[in-house]
Amino acid sequence: MASQAEIVEGTKAHIIENYGRLPVAMARGAGSRIWDADGKEYLDFFAGFGGAGVAGHCHPKIVQAVKDQAETLLCHGNLCTSAPQVELAKAITAHGFGGKVFFCHSGAEANEAAIKLVRKAAGEGRYKIISFENCFHGRTMGGLSITPKSFQAGFEPMLPGGVMVPYGDLAAVEAAIDAETAGVFVEPIQGEGGMNVPTADFMRGLRAICDANDLVLVADEVWTAPARTGKWYAYQHFGAQPDVMTLAKALGGGAPVAACVASDKYADVLTPGTHGCTMGGNPLCAAAAAASMELIESENLTDRAEEKGRWVTGTLADAGIPCINEIRGKGLMIGVAIDESAAVAKDIMMACMEHGLLVCIAKNNVLRLAPPLTTPDEDFEKALQILIRVMKEV
Ligand SMILES: Cc1ncc(COP(=O)(O)O)c(C=O)c1O
Repeated sequence: MASQAEIVEGTKAHIIENYGRLPVAMARGAGSRIWDADGKEYLDFFAGFGGAGVAGHCHPKIVQAVKDQAETLLCHGNLCTSAPQVELAKAITAHGFGGKVFFCHSGAEANEAAIKLVRKAAGEGRYKIISFENCFHGRTMGGLSITPKSFQAGFEPMLPGGVMVPYGDLAAVEAAIDAETAGVFVEPIQGEGGMNVPTADFMRGLRAICDANDLVLVADEVWTAPARTGKWYAYQHFGAQPDVMTLAKALGGGAPVAACVASDKYADVLTPGTHGCTMGGNPLCAAAAAASMELIESENLTDRAEEKGRWVTGTLADAGIPCINEIRGKGLMIGVAIDESAAVAKDIMMACMEHGLLVCIAKNNVLRLAPPLTTPDEDFEKALQILIRVMKEV
């Protein structure tokens, strides 16, 4: 097997450097733990940017579902359908607001489908989409057009119609609406923007504004669902049901699958020929995702996310760490805002990594914790010991 150094060298030589990668090559994972190619073990408290977020790495039931499906049927064109797609769509809609599902592979693609759906539903002349400062909706041109300018540099011009207002400011939303407005995109908790939790008043107010102005409300649940925040979908915390939601990352249990879910009212907007994705919902990924959804239910992972989230935030709050400004989030989607005059979040991230704990950062000096929901108690304890020690030392 190639050494870590060889793989890192090979990466530099052959793969485009668009990620600012760390010099680490991962080789194997099990649950909340992952090992690099030199055999070093890490507690993975960022779960592959959320991608292994529900059941961690290589959960035996997900692996079995993938093996069974791989031996049966790997893919079929989308002029046909298959049982794993239907099983997954049923699980997604049963725990949410019903409706119907379009399958693709990534959060950006799911948002792309949602943007097209919003524009088509709104009709000719209505194309503007309101989104929020500090949001993130993906790197495709559509997603980028409704994501902050700092991500757009070098790729202008954007799609016309992106309008950005402060997160939480209902008056600004109302002021931004005109005859050309088609919809609103909101993260029910902002992930990349720093784990920012909105108020229920804001989310309900958005719903009311969209109803009053005939706008499509889209919840980008790419980070927040399924189950991470202690509910199947984060909008359920606020009593504000969207018309459309987008899912990706943890949905696939480690496999690349994403979904754009439309409520009954909007389920027939994307008609034959208006949108597509060759491998979207292919049976291999759908089987993995369906097994992962089943685990949420059978292991009651929504409650576990809520319970362990409370434990993590309580333990950090009680630890007397001077550099913490604020701890926020819901369930196991936790942001620890670091006082900039005391420490740099990236230094904490790198020191944690040295000690065998993977965490990540978001803008404004925020440390992000998003462990697999199945992480055992002993791993939570070990991870918090490392984190607290590092945060006290920096
Ligand atoms: C809220 C949100 N939406 C969309 C995306 C894009 O997802 P992907 O990287 O799968 O395209 C991300 C990625 O981090 C995200 O956080």
